[in-house]
Amino acid sequence: MNQPRDYADLARVDRTHVSLYTDPDVFHDELERIFYRSWVYVAHDSEIPNPGDYKTTFIGLVPVIVSRDLAGEIHVLVNRCMHRGATVCATEKGNARSFTCPYHGWEFGLDGSLAAVAMPRGYNAGEIDKDKLNLVAAARVGSYRGIIFASLLAEPDISLDQKLGGVKEYIDLYMDFSPVGEILVGRSGVNKHLYEGNWKIQVEGSVEGYHAPVTHATAFDVMIRKMGFPANYQDLPLHGIDGGYGNNVLEVYRLPDEAVFKRWPAEFIDLLTQAHGRERAMEVLRTRFNMVLFPNFAILEYQFRVIRPISPERTEVRLYHTTLKDVPAAINTRRVREHEFFYGAAAFGGPDDYAVFDRLGAGYHARMAPWVYLNRGYLSEGTDDHGRRIGGHTQETQQRAPYYEYRRLMARAGA
Ligand code: FES
Ligand code: FE
Repeated sequence: MNQPRDYADLARVDRTHVSLYTDPDVFHDELERIFYRSWVYVAHDSEIPNPGDYKTTFIGLVPVIVSRDLAGEIHVLVNRCMHRGATVCATEKGNARSFTCPYHGWEFGLDGSLAAVAMPRGYNAGEIDKDKLNLVAAARVGSYRGIIFASLLAEPDISLDQKLGGVKEYIDLYMDFSPVGEILVGRSGVNKHLYEGNWKIQVEGSVEGYHAPVTHATAFDVMIRKMGFPANYQDLPLHGIDGGYGNNVLEVYRLPDEAVFKRWPAEFIDLLTQAHGRERAMEVLRTRFNMVLFPNFAILEYQFRVIRPISPERTEVRLYHTTLKDVPAAINTRRVREHEFFYGAAAFGGPDDYAVFDRLGAGYHARMAPWVYLNRGYLSEGTDDHGRRIGGHTQETQQRAPYYEYRRLMARAGA
């Protein structure tokens, strides 16, 4: 049993303690109290569209399979053979009728049920109870606009509807970029990054409005000179928003209408207008934002970002490029080109972030300087019409937002 920690003292409203980014006992508590008992992102519908489709991923450290059975129902299963514990599926995605363990050949159905045991005559009557040896299923699975979440060990204390209530309008804006309101995830590639630092560094970094002109100085220079990005970035009237339950939004830009017409071909604007009406189409095209759905998921302009904690000081991040359904191919090609300008191992922006994350990871060993400050704009923070905390986009309201939920979940003793 760990020493109980006062997480309200370590994750204060305007600063966090470095031990939250390095201490193995804290990491253990986070897995038990946040990752295994609250809503965690696992997949998007479009990754497993057909009966028999599956993908493998992780909830915290636990390997899981997200499968679609032959009746179309989605299952989130612990990828751990119920005999002696090997993972029963090793591939990232595919289509199968069942999963067969590589050690002794036990076979499990797409719904996790134990279908067959190899060489069954070696078992005497009463030695195995097949009904009790199905793969462990997540306690709860839910989805919104195709985004699938699961709670692994326990029914979460809030509904998914409640969890997403403060940010649904932004998820809707993201999906309505397609005339049919649907996106496809991962069809146009995945970028994978590893960094030597805690998972919360990427949670904070996915909605960082302050660092961009510094860390990404070269990329910003090109974007301003060649791509029409506003040079007065710092002075734009944009916000960081606390969307509740750890979720947040960083407004990246709002284009004036003439800029929308310049940026997107008339045929594409017409297509969205026919689908959604003029005002909705323009709203979708004007607005650009980043958002985090705490704890492990972010949506940025062209990507789903999945944050996987591996150890207190090692994290994997996957950027799944998103494709718009039912738009001209040229629009999706353009999204790929713009994505790869900034993101990916050889791009102009993303590698800068991961180099900085490694440096944060190193810096957090300096215990003589124990606080990480997230207080920029704290004293001028306001409230919007929906009652959400808001601040300026280069301030840190959006980075403070996850820690309200962090304190709430980490206070749950005994979990
Ligand atoms: Fe899976 Fe033995 S460990 S069949
Ligand atoms: Fe960045």
